[in-house]
Amino acid sequence: MQQVTFDHTLPMWRLREMSNSMLEEMRKGLRGEESSIKMLDSSVRKLPTGKETGVFYAFDLGGTSIRVIRTELRGPNEKEIVKAHKMKIPRGLMQTTATAEDLFGFIADTAKTAMEKFDDVPQPGSGAFPVGFTFSFPMTQPAIDKGILLHWTKGFDTQGVVGKDVGVLLQQALDRKNVPFKVGAICNDTVGTLVCTSLAHSSSGDRLIGVILGTGCNAAYFDPGEQTVINTEWGGYNKDLPTTAADTLIDQESPNRGQQGFEKLISGYYLGKMVLLNLRRAKPLLKIPDELLANVDLFNGSHTNQILKDQTPGLHKTDLLLRGLEPPIDWFTAEDRQDLRNICELVLNRSADLCAMALYAVLRQMGEEQATRNVTVGIDGSVYKMDIGYKERLKYTLNRLLFKEPTENRVSIVDTEDGSGLGAALVVAA
Ligand code: GLC
Repeated sequence: MQQVTFDHTLPMWRLREMSNSMLEEMRKGLRGEESSIKMLDSSVRKLPTGKETGVFYAFDLGGTSIRVIRTELRGPNEKEIVKAHKMKIPRGLMQTTATAEDLFGFIADTAKTAMEKFDDVPQPGSGAFPVGFTFSFPMTQPAIDKGILLHWTKGFDTQGVVGKDVGVLLQQALDRKNVPFKVGAICNDTVGTLVCTSLAHSSSGDRLIGVILGTGCNAAYFDPGEQTVINTEWGGYNKDLPTTAADTLIDQESPNRGQQGFEKLISGYYLGKMVLLNLRRAKPLLKIPDELLANVDLFNGSHTNQILKDQTPGLHKTDLLLRGLEPPIDWFTAEDRQDLRNICELVLNRSADLCAMALYAVLRQMGEEQATRNVTVGIDGSVYKMDIGYKERLKYTLNRLLFKEPTENRVSIVDTEDGSGLGAALVVAA
């Protein structure tokens, strides 16, 4: 246990050192030099004003599901009306045995079902609905409606998409299936989150950051010099990482080996496996079924969340949870469960600390490291929203990095809801 605790405890000086190196990589990325942080121009030059009106759709392809969102914008001071339809993406469609046609065909089918559910029956001659496509992967964007996938992340490996324009692939699938939508914009989820935050929190002007901390982890910020939103793709950061033996194994067993080093230390897709691998390291005599380690769906971030929330004596709820796993774990003593819980805490605290460190690097890049002007950071994602003190830990570490008492710090971290999808619809509308 001692080694695992030591490995996951990052002192402030270490976080500062990492933020220096991250900032350097960001600057290299911006200059177009070789860098593990790509700093991609999102081509979003215009933020919505709140005066937009009309019906807009967004398709949000996240880490595990596709959501079709219909929003009716009603102008200033009127809350938009939002409806959503969500489908889990079958694992098979993410694997290399699936083709682009399969994946985008599935999105088109889901869009059709959603349209019917929302009673949007297209009238003859009424044209296609404008749609913003949230595509949460690294892509270059020569124009707002183009997105060339650089490489997959978060366990996706569908063939025939890397190097292609996902706007074209989506439009072709929609046309093939006669689903009347016209792709008007493509957005990374962090960009969508930033756009949404800009409407709800106008006091920061354009000093905005959008962060996703869910299956994957990434941030976008508004660059006042270039007047554009930069999708950092900070998950790709690969230098000077506090990698443990468990992290190395996770990387080796992932389809994108050697890539997304930073993301693999903090995001939800890897958390469950990380906890179990560290438990195995701390207590080698415990038998943890290999199946639970081989399939990230069987023990994941939602399980670690439930374990951390367990307040019962002897961690009784955790016992039930472990017995309910497939395959079950039914031989853990109360002490084993406590160790498991401690490891969940260590892993999540490290995740929050690293995310705060990366945010600090972005604030420095924006020239806001003094935190004397209002900056709004909109955050969304399943890991951030876990109700186990993650948010508090992130804010605590950021305050320490900024050398600020919470009351002096003008960087406000706000929750955003549905931002990634809604943001894409707003970009189309703006
Ligand atoms: C991965 C993707 C990135 C996305 C993030 C959050 O890091 O590469 O584009 O924003 O996950 O979903």
